[in-house]
Amino acid sequence: MTAMLVRARLLSFLRRPQAVDDRSSYRYEEDGGLLVEDGRIVAFGPYADVRAGASGDVEEIDHRPHLVLPGLVDTHLHFPQMQVIGAYAADLLEWLNTHTFPEECRFVESAHAARIARHFYDELIRHGTTTAAAFCSVHKASADAYFAEALARGMCMVGGKVMMDRNAPQGLTDTPGTGYDETRAVIAEWHGKGRNHVAITPRFAITSTPAQMDAAAALAREFPDLHIQTHLSENHDEIRLTAELYPDALDYTDVYARYGLLGPKSLFGHCIHLSEREADAMSEAGAVAVHCPTSNLFLGSGLFALKAFMRREKPLRVGLATDVGGGTSYSMLKTLDEAYKIQQLLGERLNPLESFHHMTLGNAEALSLADRIGTLEPGTDADFVVLDAAATPAMALRMEVVRSLADELFLLQTLGDDRAVRETYVAGRAMKSRL
Ligand code: GUN
Ligand code: ZN
Repeated sequence: MTAMLVRARLLSFLRRPQAVDDRSSYRYEEDGGLLVEDGRIVAFGPYADVRAGASGDVEEIDHRPHLVLPGLVDTHLHFPQMQVIGAYAADLLEWLNTHTFPEECRFVESAHAARIARHFYDELIRHGTTTAAAFCSVHKASADAYFAEALARGMCMVGGKVMMDRNAPQGLTDTPGTGYDETRAVIAEWHGKGRNHVAITPRFAITSTPAQMDAAAALAREFPDLHIQTHLSENHDEIRLTAELYPDALDYTDVYARYGLLGPKSLFGHCIHLSEREADAMSEAGAVAVHCPTSNLFLGSGLFALKAFMRREKPLRVGLATDVGGGTSYSMLKTLDEAYKIQQLLGERLNPLESFHHMTLGNAEALSLADRIGTLEPGTDADFVVLDAAATPAMALRMEVVRSLADELFLLQTLGDDRAVRETYVAGRAMKSRL
């Protein structure tokens, strides 16, 4: 296979930046070369060096003056909610009951699930997202459509058939038995196929009976390497109802802990209103709190203490996510823009290097996939994006006076969206220009 050499400005993080001038936290090549072969990155460095070291047939692609970063990673969203994004509701529980549960019922039909899956991956690619962790619906057909489409596009995706057996419409519930059996079938059919990762996915404590939580616990014991994804501590009414449904638990986090669902591959959407005890328990387990800023603002759920959680004596691992369709944008740029504003309201600063670390390497680490994605290091998968900080007239005008990389990143985050994504590469293949 012909190798591909991408010439551009290249940026890849090595660790979380401590400050805006933390130069050793990233590698930046002003005139960079990225050599790709068989879907993998084989060299990353100054263009002249990489060019000199490349042998055989090499196809060159010049993306100058744009900026190449690792593909963006979204650690929590809902594939069956594309058609309820921006639906008008007072809060989480009204939004779920009025709009979202009826919408998800439609995924009982394979043809509908397959159609929306095509749109879903088109939208991820359009926004520069190359890996995501998504909830499917309760129907196995939705997980089949989700993973089949990921396989066809060669994308590294995490996902799961949702388990939910109460407090939802009849067309949107399984049982402890069928939830277990169908999750097992999804694992058997899809886990490890292509770049697919199946996650055990109880929706949240409100929609799972204790018997179903036992079934999720059994799956977690049988498949200890799998991701687990669910929701935790998003909304005060949700927290109150959970306490009523699980009166023996110490708190909301303890509900999941009691069923063996609190571990280093566990991804908990929201985690806004955690007590100190809950945050300690999360930290000790190495579980990931997934911050979904556009969703939290849209549903009025609350302000996630991102910086405070990360500098605790027992720090939290944190992922950033769109939470479409509670979230209002597919763009990780817009997501970090809103995360920045939430920190502003809390009297904290989120620096632009930190933001771009979060949406690449940070989120890859949150998904325990940093050995494969989230970086431009040789040996990893060739998922990367080409960003243009002058993509719109307003951005171009602002860019005229930008002098530093950090300021360029901040401009991309504040004014950018899918228009700033010039190209999205998945395993070395240009995908966005083919949409
Ligand atoms: N909690 C349980 N299900 C959902 C969902 O679909 N979206 C959000 N934002 N929270 C949830
Ligand atoms: Zn969610």
